[in-house]
Amino acid sequence: MHNAPVYAAPALVVARGLTRKFGDLTAVDAVDFDIRPNECVGFLGPNGAGKTTLMRLIYSAIHKTAGELSVFGLTPMQQRKRINARIGVVFQENNLDEELSAAESLEVHALYCGLDHRTARGRIAELLDWLALTPKARSSFRELSGGMVRRLMIARALLNSPELLILDEPTTGLDPQVRHTIWASLRELKRQGMTILLTTHYMEEAQQLSDRVMIMDRGRIVVSGPPNQLIEQHLERYVLQASGLAEAPAVAGDIRHERAGDADYFYSNAEQPLQALYETLPTPYALLRHANLEDVFLKFTGRGLHE
Ligand SMILES: Nc1ncnc2c1ncn2[C@@H]1O[C@H](COP(=O)(O)OP(=O)(O)OP(=O)(O)O)[C@@H](O)[C@H]1O
Ligand SMILES: [Mg+2]
Repeated sequence: MHNAPVYAAPALVVARGLTRKFGDLTAVDAVDFDIRPNECVGFLGPNGAGKTTLMRLIYSAIHKTAGELSVFGLTPMQQRKRINARIGVVFQENNLDEELSAAESLEVHALYCGLDHRTARGRIAELLDWLALTPKARSSFRELSGGMVRRLMIARALLNSPELLILDEPTTGLDPQVRHTIWASLRELKRQGMTILLTTHYMEEAQQLSDRVMIMDRGRIVVSGPPNQLIEQHLERYVLQASGLAEAPAVAGDIRHERAGDADYFYSNAEQPLQALYETLPTPYALLRHANLEDVFLKFTGRGLHE
């Protein structure tokens, strides 16, 4: 039995017909969604889909062009200070001051957040420790690895003890070990009650962290829901993917076939017919697996380049 509350808590973020244009380009196109307290929502989408623009609207970096947006029941831009006091942001690009040490970066941000000296000192020590950065506290920025820089960005976003954490591609370019430690930290924050908005290109990241994902394409939310539910709703259970076939074999009616570029995909709810097909394929580049979030992503956003 799930311990869902009897009543639905009010949404922290509400968007209705939210739109942002840059000249002729509609970067965010009439999106609607609610984000509830303690949810982790993952935003997926090809490059240029509008994920960062949507996050920037939420943390009051830019004005909307049309529609409605509220954050904690407040109005972004107009009530930006009150909102941002309660939000932590990890930007897509690292924007730490390269002249400062790790601890100094946090000290400067603590001043900006208006933390008093004592609170700041305690909080900085706690965050450096929690993100395993204490040994690097006085190291200059240049001595930090990519993973340390990202962890430092997360520490900075958490300084003001936010209620809502926005992470724009928190682990892009990081090695698997660092990525897994960051995921563990984010899951711990979620257990403590944090609401998290995350953009990512890593399907596993979205699946590991998100209660719901929203897949965006050309400014629109094309599909949304819990990752496993999306996979069940929109795809067969099994996929056989193969490349290097001169010609795709004819298949029985219980197998659906798609060709994209030089790759063939065979889908079925039963494993056995795909296994039988797998054994006949004259290519070493074949894999039989469960359908996953990436299959959903590609189904809704297409397999071609968007830029
Ligand atoms: N300040 C801006 N001026 C003009 N166009 C912009 C601006 N910011 C974003 N865009 C355009 O809006 C669209 C959405 O960009 P956005 O950065 O939101 O995409 P994204 O989903 O975050 O992409 P990525 O996965 O590459 O980070 C793109 O076509 C981008 O070129
Ligand atoms: Mg982006």
